[in-house]
Amino acid sequence: MLYDVIVVGSGIAGLHAALFAKRAGCHVAVLTKSNPFRSNSAVASGGINAVINVNEYDSVERHVSDTFDGSDGLANLGNIRKMCAQAPEIVQELQEMGVGFDTDEEGAIAQRPFGGASANRTCYIADRTGSAIVQTLLMQCRNEGVHILANHKFLNICSFKEKLSGVTVLRRRDSQVIAFACKSLILAGGGYAGIFRGHSTNAQESSGDVIAAGLRAGLRLSNMEFVQFHPTTLATNGSLISEAARGEGAYLVDETGTRFTDELQTRDKLSRAITEHMREGHTVYLDFRHLDEALIDAKLPSARKMALNGAGIDITTELLPITPSAHYTIGGIWTRDDTSTDMPGVFACGECAVTGVHGANRLGGNSLLEGAYFGRMSGIEAARYARRREFRPIDYRDVDKESRRVELILDGDNLYNINAMRKNLGASLFRDAGVFRSEETLSSALEYSHYLMGRKHGLHCIHKERDNNVELASILEFENALTIAEAMILSALKRKESRGVHYRVDYPERDDRYFNAASYIKLIGRDYLKISFERVVRGGLWHHTKKVLASIKV
Ligand code: FUM
Repeated sequence: MLYDVIVVGSGIAGLHAALFAKRAGCHVAVLTKSNPFRSNSAVASGGINAVINVNEYDSVERHVSDTFDGSDGLANLGNIRKMCAQAPEIVQELQEMGVGFDTDEEGAIAQRPFGGASANRTCYIADRTGSAIVQTLLMQCRNEGVHILANHKFLNICSFKEKLSGVTVLRRRDSQVIAFACKSLILAGGGYAGIFRGHSTNAQESSGDVIAAGLRAGLRLSNMEFVQFHPTTLATNGSLISEAARGEGAYLVDETGTRFTDELQTRDKLSRAITEHMREGHTVYLDFRHLDEALIDAKLPSARKMALNGAGIDITTELLPITPSAHYTIGGIWTRDDTSTDMPGVFACGECAVTGVHGANRLGGNSLLEGAYFGRMSGIEAARYARRREFRPIDYRDVDKESRRVELILDGDNLYNINAMRKNLGASLFRDAGVFRSEETLSSALEYSHYLMGRKHGLHCIHKERDNNVELASILEFENALTIAEAMILSALKRKESRGVHYRVDYPERDDRYFNAASYIKLIGRDYLKISFERVVRGGLWHHTKKVLASIKV
């Protein structure tokens, strides 16, 4: 099949990209490996930030400065400015497509407070904002003629004479590897917080597939060490209890009923405060009991349902035990300001991309905004690129190589338990590369991921059926997860300071002399990761003062 533009990923960024590439006259397909409602966009429930009314309480400049302050000094200020300025138009555009934002008594879009914001700026649909937006965008894409190819798992980028020619894909219906040719490619396949399995708000498949494929294709990754922990997730299973809960007035208390911290500080600080309190022996709860039941049902219905289904708790009368869990990954594929990457014709947007707007810590409500803003830009830029290009041939040796790999995984005798390995990786990362990190714990996480890496070739499908083989998809994902884990741990080891979501107990201060810099990871040969740091200047200029700090074999 031939498409002018292929988009990998069906969250808010991917769907925006597809829509705008289509509107620019391109033949567009979206590849999605499973159900679009499992994407992180669909999980981001609390809302999307935009200054709807400029008044004495809020302005675009305040949105810019809150975002920059939240980033702990590492952000691309130019991109923040552009994104925040476009936010009102994006929300209006979504509303015109049919997204039914909640409104106030006057019929204006209602806005709630969110952590790190100096005004009520988060627009919402109860506490199911992301899924409502994804639903509308999917419908809009279908209506405008975008092909949505579900159950098509992206494997790798194909090139011909070192130029983009298409992608290889696992068709899950029959486990065949097929290729699609394209003139431009948009990577919008989400982040990697799912590798913290058992301690993550993400679906397990959020394992950084597109980021690992980008790395294999020669793209640079950046800031992989910055993993955001959401402060309030169910203690039983890590499911997200949206920041909307605290925005609507729920308290954080311990077993004595004492509020011990500011519920609306930024997520990095709050996750640390909660984790520290737990380490002192306390249990931490969200307390909704003082809130009106009608308000809970109108504005927090998902939290109520989630608590009941996931923990057997009725939040109107009982305390809900919570814990921080890995939620969002700030690092990913390095992009220029127009979302282009190191490979001509390949663009990246959304959580898998580093646009620089979050720096070292993201404000809640800014991820849906980033996805929409940079998704739209990716679609426009990819269409512009595709218009000036011809299709290049697919090198069928790429397809053959992938097919052999898939057949090997399907046919061989399995030696290990994939579920145990994924769970153990998640537990090791949460313990040793989590909210608090140190040289010692990170080294032990790296050693453990090396150990797992050494065993990945012993993973084969126990069940050999070809029709939607979940084990096959899991094994392919796990291989990517291990690469991503090593890139993340290596970056965290080498950033010897504390900044934003990255907190090193052995280097507790921010160190602007050496680390006001983005980290970069590149694949050297087939299996060495090389890390370097480049200094960042306020305003978004990226100095090219590369210093190679280390390389490891993966
Ligand atoms: O808490 C939340 O609703 C999450 C939102 C986000 O990650 O932006």
